[in-house]
Amino acid sequence: MNGKLIILGLGALALAGCATGMSEAESRQKALAMMKRDFQSRGIAGIDRLNEDEVQKACNEYHNNPPKEVAERLQTAQMAAIKFPADGQLLGDWKEGEKLAQSGRGMTWSDSPGSPNGGNCYNCHQLSPKELSYGTIGPSLYRYGKIRGNSPEIQRYTYGRIYNAKAYSLCSNMPRFGHVGALTEQQIKHLVALLLDPQSPVNH
Ligand code: HEC
Repeated sequence: MNGKLIILGLGALALAGCATGMSEAESRQKALAMMKRDFQSRGIAGIDRLNEDEVQKACNEYHNNPPKEVAERLQTAQMAAIKFPADGQLLGDWKEGEKLAQSGRGMTWSDSPGSPNGGNCYNCHQLSPKELSYGTIGPSLYRYGKIRGNSPEIQRYTYGRIYNAKAYSLCSNMPRFGHVGALTEQQIKHLVALLLDPQSPVNH
């Protein structure tokens, strides 16, 4: 008698699951529709920011672990879209870079169009040892240049990484600063200098 009851109970659960259950794709669609309904554009912060591009879509759908061929195809396209400076000069002024790394300003509804953004690097990375407040989502970049040197290859890698981290690791948590136009070419050069210049506090 008890045994039968349990079996019946399980059957009812399974049925209920089918009746209300949504596939993951369906619930994603529903959540997205809800956000598009409830969020509003204000100033420069438009709801177009809710639209996923191909990379975000693949990373979300595959829980940050897309099949190898998907990851390779998308990563190659991201890499090809990196615009390296036409003048071939990748190093700016590390002092400006430090200010950018410190600043998390920009892109909110109260910012005016075209006002410069910060890089927000300390939110995820340790850089200069003088700054005691930093996040740890990303690896420490303290002594980055001291460890890697300042060769043309390292300069190019560092510029590219800041421009578009997803060209190197598709589902990276690091924002694509150059790719999305959050930072300008000149600002990225200042940040490369912050990481590589021997005078920069990062390398002391
Ligand atoms: C939201 C977190 C986040 C922010 C903000 C962020 N990063 Fe990153 N960064 C990461 C993560 C995570 C990694 C580890 C590798 C990866 O996933 O791409 C990384 C890796 C890097 C690397 C490669 C390190 C290596 O050893 O090769 C560099 C260079 C870098 N970040 C520079 C910066 C700079 C400069 C800024 C500011 C403009 C910045 N990051 C802002 C999360 C972040």
